[in-house]
Amino acid sequence: MRKWNFCAGPAVISEEVLSEVQSELLEFPNSGSSIMEMSHRSKTYMNVALDAKQDLKDILKIPENYEILFLQGGATHQFSMIPMNFNHLSGSADYITTGTWTKKAFIEGSKIMDLKEIYSSEKNNFTFAPDIENLELSDNAAYVHYCPNETIQGNAIHKVPKINKPLVADMSSVILSEPLEVDSFSLIYAGAQKNIGPAGLTIVIIKKEFMERGNSNLPNLFRYSEHAKSDSMLNTPPTFSWYVAGKVFKWIKKSGGLDFFKEQNQLKASNLYNFIDISDFYLNPVKLENRSIMNIPFMLNDNALDSVFLSESEENGLMNLKGHRSVGGMRASIYNAMPLEGVNELIKFMDYFESKYG
Ligand SMILES: Cc1ncc(COP(=O)(O)O)c(C=O)c1O
Repeated sequence: MRKWNFCAGPAVISEEVLSEVQSELLEFPNSGSSIMEMSHRSKTYMNVALDAKQDLKDILKIPENYEILFLQGGATHQFSMIPMNFNHLSGSADYITTGTWTKKAFIEGSKIMDLKEIYSSEKNNFTFAPDIENLELSDNAAYVHYCPNETIQGNAIHKVPKINKPLVADMSSVILSEPLEVDSFSLIYAGAQKNIGPAGLTIVIIKKEFMERGNSNLPNLFRYSEHAKSDSMLNTPPTFSWYVAGKVFKWIKKSGGLDFFKEQNQLKASNLYNFIDISDFYLNPVKLENRSIMNIPFMLNDNALDSVFLSESEENGLMNLKGHRSVGGMRASIYNAMPLEGVNELIKFMDYFESKYG
């Protein structure tokens, strides 16, 4: 029996999508084989791939001067691929550290390029984030890197900054949760395993003009422009993940697009935050304006009860609520495929648990 799954990633996928995948698993319609068993260059697969790309373009309203790439290597691969491509422009870039992932991006990128960390909220356990427009950017920054939604700390930057440097964003845990002003960014990247579909796929949305400035001396597999030239089929792509992502994009469209999900996601998050805030038993440490609508960490005032909370929540059909080991406590990841009903069930359980142990 499926339970409410609050995993940070790989995360819940809509049951409607999974059922459709199940019904096509043995034979993709009129093809004689499973989608997993066919050449990525076959006409049938190419149609699936291009259709998915078009749907993503429609959902996010991605302008014509952007390339959409379906890559591998996860978001982590982008931590090095980005500096590899743009190091030669000026040798430096500005990084904004607001949580575990931006810290990792900075450390990895620094192995390639002379990066400057222009902001860090690490001393405050990443419980807030800056207004990027108020930061002093370096004159020689080839780009500015940030993460609008830190998955582990639930620390978010909701306003898209307007700056006069190429803006690069790790959107792994926030992409497709709401409409996006794509044209404010030079490069957006996201691992698929939260709001897009199964792990193994990484989406990169890159402004063509920025892409063309990438280092041309790199091996092809590290060059965005080479991936773009071959429609992300420079080598065998993660065909199954790409196919399922395409189904998720259709499900998003059918459900009412990103305006619908924005409304749903805000409602889910505000229900949970409101409950946490009125209780003396639970607490969320993140500054109000930086609270994530996708990943909501919460602590129990008495952490001796953590393991009891986890085992009883599991018994009540609520899975994967354990917070990341670096933060402790609990975390509820409530991506698009987590319905309001699931969040309300979580709140009901939290209320019951508080009345039992509080
Ligand atoms: C914001 C963010 N960036 C990067 C990563 C790393 O992603 P991957 O495992 O796809 O490399 C994650 C993974 O959870 C993430 O949440």
